Amino acid sequence: HPSNFKEGGDVVLKREDCRAKGGAPGFKVAILGAAGGIGQPLALLMKINPLVSVLHLYDVVNSPGVTADVSHMDTGAVVRGFLGQPQLESALTGMDLVVIPAGVPRKPGMTRDDLFKINAGIVRTLCEGVAKSCPGAIVNLISNPVNSTVPIAAEVFKKAGIYDPKRLLGVTTLDVVRANTFVAEVLGVDPREVDVPVVGGHAGVTILPLLSQVKPPSSFSAEETEYLTNRIQNGGTEVVEAKAGAGSATLSMAYAAAKFANACLRGLKGEGGVVECAFVDSQVTELPFFATKVRLGRGGAEEIYQLGPLNEYERAGLEKAKRELAESIQKGINFIKK
Ligand code: NAD
Ligand code: LMR
Repeated sequence: HPSNFKEGGDVVLKREDCRAKGGAPGFKVAILGAAGGIGQPLALLMKINPLVSVLHLYDVVNSPGVTADVSHMDTGAVVRGFLGQPQLESALTGMDLVVIPAGVPRKPGMTRDDLFKINAGIVRTLCEGVAKSCPGAIVNLISNPVNSTVPIAAEVFKKAGIYDPKRLLGVTTLDVVRANTFVAEVLGVDPREVDVPVVGGHAGVTILPLLSQVKPPSSFSAEETEYLTNRIQNGGTEVVEAKAGAGSATLSMAYAAAKFANACLRGLKGEGGVVECAFVDSQVTELPFFATKVRLGRGGAEEIYQLGPLNEYERAGLEKAKRELAESIQKGINFIKK
């Protein structure tokens, strides 16, 4: 039924009225790129999140179908769809959290940086929309290359005079999800028992798993360390090659994005001790952005944790990661400044 697609449809209004009369409080979440490979399963996962009261699904194509489909799920969130640039403002107005998986994915043989040409402009346009319509929202940026798109978003927000570094988070959760899975395989344990900090950025050698800090405390041989580090750094490429031209990780990414968005919402709600890795404005290294563990609170990334003790292998990895990261960050900044 189109009534929950066009703004202000009857179905939406009746349910919001009911909510205003004492329904469960929740947050308003928008997904930009909601009809894509990540966007669709992410829309499903956000629709079943009890912390979400309103879910806005925006895309430049196909959002009416995805919205109609997801809106039939008998969970609490009210779903509305928005199609194309003229509806971006309505999609964003009043949002607490904006999740951005809009943009093209890799094909075999490409690096994430090869996506810059197309995705940089998409991220700029969408972040200009955020600056205008929901400048206080938390932004979860998924679009690649994350190492450059986060600096692009920061520059757009600075230009608009609304930049709050705590509220802009590049999503690196999939690296942690993969690291937990692969480390659990090696240790022969349940991945839910494993916590691997992954720092740096989100591309190749900039993805730096800190195996010396794995919980529960574990030791790895030199061969295991080499195998795990390579597999975690190349997890995205493993999926791109297996999909053989049909895109990159979408299902594991939607899971990771939903996990991270849920952590942001728990922080917004005021829950204590919510900690995840994310690529943020940071003073942990000399670089302006870096991924580490952050504590999520009402203001976004309220505390940024230091790297902690690194072994020799990790110190060498850190130097390599920083060299590549510095260039990717500068490329993003230049895209807006020059
Ligand atoms: P996809 O092509 O399946 O979907 C992208 C969607 O974005 C499409 O529906 C498209 O219409 C939409 N889109 C394009 N331009 C838009 C615009 N201006 N406004 C709104 N929507 C727009 O791609 P996907 O597999 O969902 O991947 C999306 C992005 O996420 C890619 O850049 C990919 O590299 C990245 N990604 C990041 C991670 C991560 O860990 N951060 C993981 C996987 C994928
Ligand atoms: C991933 O890590 O799966 C994503 O960044 C997509 C990609 O291009 O690898």
